[in-house]
Amino acid sequence: MLKKCGIAHFFIRPDDQKRYRSYLAFNTASRTVDRNGTPEFRISQIQDIGSHLMEVCFHTGMDNLVLDRLQTVANDIVTCLEDDPRAVLHIQNLVDHDMYTYFHSTGVGILSVAIAKAMGENNADVLRCFALGGLLHDIGKRETPLHVLNKSGPLLDTEWDMMKKHPEDGFNAVKSLDVPEMVRDIILYHHEKRDGTGYPFRLSADKIPLPAQLVSIADIFNALTTTRSYHRKRTRFEALMLMKQDMLGKIWVDAFKGLITALTEGEAAADDKEIRSITLG
Ligand SMILES: [Fe+2]
Ligand SMILES: [Fe+2]
Repeated sequence: MLKKCGIAHFFIRPDDQKRYRSYLAFNTASRTVDRNGTPEFRISQIQDIGSHLMEVCFHTGMDNLVLDRLQTVANDIVTCLEDDPRAVLHIQNLVDHDMYTYFHSTGVGILSVAIAKAMGENNADVLRCFALGGLLHDIGKRETPLHVLNKSGPLLDTEWDMMKKHPEDGFNAVKSLDVPEMVRDIILYHHEKRDGTGYPFRLSADKIPLPAQLVSIADIFNALTTTRSYHRKRTRFEALMLMKQDMLGKIWVDAFKGLITALTEGEAAADDKEIRSITLG
């Protein structure tokens, strides 16, 4: 429209740059996923749209309009995996980048649905809650200072304290919105560990809602399979082995088995054989 009016250049005031970026992100996020595309194409569209929506959430906060769009993306995730469960193998993980948290969020949404389905969950409403919970699990990080969020080295104690606030900040961010209790639980409890060493409440196994325990598996796996400044990207097999060796007392084993099933279901992928060789007794 500006072009039609003969305007080739315009300037954004520094104060308005954040709002302008959100406007662009929301426009990108308003596109729809092509249901006739290949699973790989659909997952890449879901991640593109979902990550831009998450960018809007981080810059301008949550409101009903964004929530409505996120619910559409959650539904796209569920239908995509219903049409082809192997679509989960096409999740892309961004190397250290501003968009990392946004891509991570969509990756966790997709993985959570895949795990739940592999564990036998077929209720579409429940699956959509897993997708939405995965998308929103780290929404509280919008309150975390950027120098802490993007720090390349280990965090100082004071910085850890700031990081550990994100589950409660996320819970507060959706408090006034029409978000299902299951999604609130996922946001608030996704860093609790079954041995009571997690945060923010150090809850033990029986006190942590199961949906949060499931999303926590997707969260850990997605982070391990992405290159970060403090660790290299692990292959799927390496990430699963590391989880098996170091985390079994902390994570929900049934959901971990669900993740292995989700990654090896149907037609064989290149790393199927080694992943299938992982035994949990
Ligand atoms: Fe988190
Ligand atoms: Fe996360």
